Amino acid sequence: MRILCVCLGNICRSPMAEAVLRAKAAQAGLNWTVDSAGTGAWHLGKPPDTRAYEAARKRGYDTSDQLARQVKPQDFTAFDLILAMDARNRSELEDMYPPNATAQIRLFDPDGQEVPDPYFGERGDFEIALDMLENAANAMINRLTV
Ligand code: 4NP
Repeated sequence: MRILCVCLGNICRSPMAEAVLRAKAAQAGLNWTVDSAGTGAWHLGKPPDTRAYEAARKRGYDTSDQLARQVKPQDFTAFDLILAMDARNRSELEDMYPPNATAQIRLFDPDGQEVPDPYFGERGDFEIALDMLENAANAMINRLTV
């Protein structure tokens, strides 16, 4: 399974989502490829936001090898699942969907909760986002592997 995690900037939520999902999939013995990208282009080539990096690191997830990139047309064939953090990300992905696309677009959380954007928030908002990402990743792995 090849999974792309998508948010707006690819510096806060989706880098944390990538690290969380990769770690949990590996723990579950799943051979998943996990990547992340943003719908926007403001932060191309930048490492994750320091707050995202630190919050993730405190919980044992490493985002230090990540650099922001934008979603590209080939992603819709290179990945099986494209997982949006919120409804805005999902609708932008649907607008981009190329005619030959094969990927399924879903919200990251299989229960349909949106992961709020912590970029303009406080450190606590990054913890809330991580709590949601961990719960959602656990739920996804349980559902896709039973
Ligand atoms: P992310 O957070 O989508 O979780 O990476 C954001 C990062 C940057 C901006 C918005 C959201 N921005 O507007 O620059």
